[in-house]
Amino acid sequence: EFHLPPKHVSFSFDGPLGKYDQAQLQRGFQVFKEVCSACHSLKFVAFRDLAALGYNEAEVKAIAKQWAIKTPSVDPATGEASTREPVPSDYFPKPFANNVAAAAANNNAIPPDLSLMTKARHHGSAYVYSLITGYQAQPAELLKEFPDSKTPEGLHYNPYFANLNLAMAPPLTAEGQVTYGDGTKPTVDQMAQDVAAFLTWTAEPKLENRRRAGLATIFFLLIATGLAYMSYQNIWADKK
Ligand code: HEM
Repeated sequence: EFHLPPKHVSFSFDGPLGKYDQAQLQRGFQVFKEVCSACHSLKFVAFRDLAALGYNEAEVKAIAKQWAIKTPSVDPATGEASTREPVPSDYFPKPFANNVAAAAANNNAIPPDLSLMTKARHHGSAYVYSLITGYQAQPAELLKEFPDSKTPEGLHYNPYFANLNLAMAPPLTAEGQVTYGDGTKPTVDQMAQDVAAFLTWTAEPKLENRRRAGLATIFFLLIATGLAYMSYQNIWADKK
């Protein structure tokens, strides 16, 4: 078996009491913005949702300005969709004009929307981290056992990807690919963890609320069970 389960990696949001680390989400967003967004959209995330990461209104507006939103009208000069400046209620747009253009630029594969990626794959947070840090040379045993399985030209071997060969080239290859404002050292491993954390947030921005509600529910049910038991004892106290 050459396909591997995701690596073990710990996140601040692990476990029932885990919480997002806002500084990490900001770093992960920076990686998404500076690296991943060249090919991937976040169609379920609006610019204004970034307020949850601690950005104020002016910062959200400044971030949104770095993208362009396609309009239904076509620019007669180029034949391509005209664009307008985004407003905070716009969603992170697709970077390519259409799927044909996306596939043409990526060895026939269309970069998927990443909003829900950490939900779409098992152990999604660890999966994204493992995929980004998991590129390697194709193992010799694999080629020996299956000589026809040589990674095709233009694809990249990655044992964390179910198909083993994927069209995405390693997106994070060098330390310092982004420069973090909070002084965190931008190693490939760190950037991969941060973007995995950010994509966990895009897929479940209300994770902390869900867990809080769950804990409150369990606490309530424990008390209610105790009260029910006590009233049962009370009601039957004189019936031997
Ligand atoms: C696929 C993440 C940057 C092109 C994917 C997948 C993930 C991902 C999670 C889905 C794998 C699956 O289906 O299980 C990221 C992250 C990036 C990044 C976190 C930034 C750190 C890029 C860039 C490009 C790109 C810059 C283009 C140059 C693609 C393509 C696929 C893909 C073409 C489809 C691969 C296939 O199905 O063979 N990416 N990506 N990605 N990505 Fe990226």
